[in-house]
Amino acid sequence: MFITLEGPEGSGKTSHIPYLVEYLREKGYTVFPTREPGGTSISEQIRDVLHDLKNAEMLPRTETLLYQAARAQIVEQVIKPRLAAGEIVISDRYYDSTIAYQGYGHQQDLEQVRGLVCYATGGLTPDLTVLLDLDVEVGLRRKTQNEVEWNRMDAYTVEFHRRVRAGYLEMVKAEPRRWVVVNSEQKWDDVQAELKKVILDRLVKSQ
Ligand code: TMP
Repeated sequence: MFITLEGPEGSGKTSHIPYLVEYLREKGYTVFPTREPGGTSISEQIRDVLHDLKNAEMLPRTETLLYQAARAQIVEQVIKPRLAAGEIVISDRYYDSTIAYQGYGHQQDLEQVRGLVCYATGGLTPDLTVLLDLDVEVGLRRKTQNEVEWNRMDAYTVEFHRRVRAGYLEMVKAEPRRWVVVNSEQKWDDVQAELKKVILDRLVKSQ
């Protein structure tokens, strides 16, 4: 089972994943958490280039290709072997981030972007994708207030981030069987409880 978590900035994915992993391990599942961009040495180096605020001149096409380069590496080196070994892989972001940010956010041709994504992943699609959804301004405010990493992507305009969120919601509509939406404006504990339920239900159903 390949599970991905997605969401606009400040949606809290990263803070939820360790607790989810611990919960599923307690239930007896073998779980491997990872993140994008990153998760391998090469992909983490590409992440640094992508997120460095001093790379402000980076073009959307360059950005799109770098995310795919990082992805190609983690898919082959980590995700596919773990899935083949029967593990549950939980990824903090995957290709839907590219469709949302580089496709909808930068308003690039969606078909071309989907083609690049397919090349990078070899067609590997998640079994379940959870969208941690929240108002864009609430999310950006959370990020500034919590003093977490503020990177080159965060620094795009609010309009960019609004298109990202709208893009996610379009994707949910287009593929309702793969996606589940969790409102991440709820209290952290309530979000965590809903995430655990959604994921465990899906795991149990798939057995
Ligand atoms: P995060 O790890 O804090 O969520 O940061 C990852 C950033 O990278 C976030 O701004 C979303 C962005 N991103 C893309 O724009 N495209 C992608 O394909 C991925 C994986 C991430």
